Amino acid sequence: MGKIIVFTDTHMEPEVAEGKLNPDVQLQKGIAHVNEFNADADRVVFVGDLTDVGDKQSYNMLRSRLKDLKIPYHLLLGNHDNRENFLEIFPDIKLDKNGFVQDVIETPEANLILLDTLNGPPYNYPESHIGKLCEKRMSWLEAQLDRSGDKPCIIFMHHPPHDTHFSGMDLIKLAEHEAFYELIKRYDNVHHIVAGHVHRTISGSHQGVPFSVFKSTVGQMPMLFDAMACHLEVNEPSAYGIIFVNSDSIIVQTEDFELTDLKKLQS
Ligand SMILES: [Fe+2]
Repeated sequence: MGKIIVFTDTHMEPEVAEGKLNPDVQLQKGIAHVNEFNADADRVVFVGDLTDVGDKQSYNMLRSRLKDLKIPYHLLLGNHDNRENFLEIFPDIKLDKNGFVQDVIETPEANLILLDTLNGPPYNYPESHIGKLCEKRMSWLEAQLDRSGDKPCIIFMHHPPHDTHFSGMDLIKLAEHEAFYELIKRYDNVHHIVAGHVHRTISGSHQGVPFSVFKSTVGQMPMLFDAMACHLEVNEPSAYGIIFVNSDSIIVQTEDFELTDLKKLQS
């Protein structure tokens, strides 16, 4: 059985405004929790929005903090990231042949397909907040699905390719959502989609394909479905995801790592 940890929306930033959660401290707590209670995991996947504004200093902070993690990790980009700055600080990251941060991790149970949905360069906001899978990236995905054959695939992508019923966030989901589902529905091997972006725990299925969206390590989305602003935050405990992958099942859990003192329960 495989075990995958999912962190998303770490939003690292060097200067933290008063009253806001410190992303580096939050990530430090999350990593310490994984190391202590889920050190048997095979992989950790960070599902984008690694930084808040895509600056090199924040990527450096992230790189330093990741040294604490005892498990191999993989990084995806989100709308708050900057691919060029990211690659300068993480030059060893694997890219696809077109230079996008896309990769396939082959585990015994499933192929983990990591997508790059960052809409840039150029980085023009608010347009660049929308998720993008251009023709090159879509073709790459098609090749991976084709190559995977009957092996189960789990797709990791920052932007959900479907609505989550938060009005503001639905406007900045994956732009090519129709083409995306048209493609993956031609294959029977996509067993689950994992996304971030919304800062909220959400699960369900779209066009018959199950998905999970996870909370951020910093602020969470309030349950105001009609809110158009995407920067609203409610002070709920942060979380990471835990996915158990077997030959015949995918079980998804979330751990509110600030809430439970597991050490006390163990003693
Ligand atoms: Fe995002």
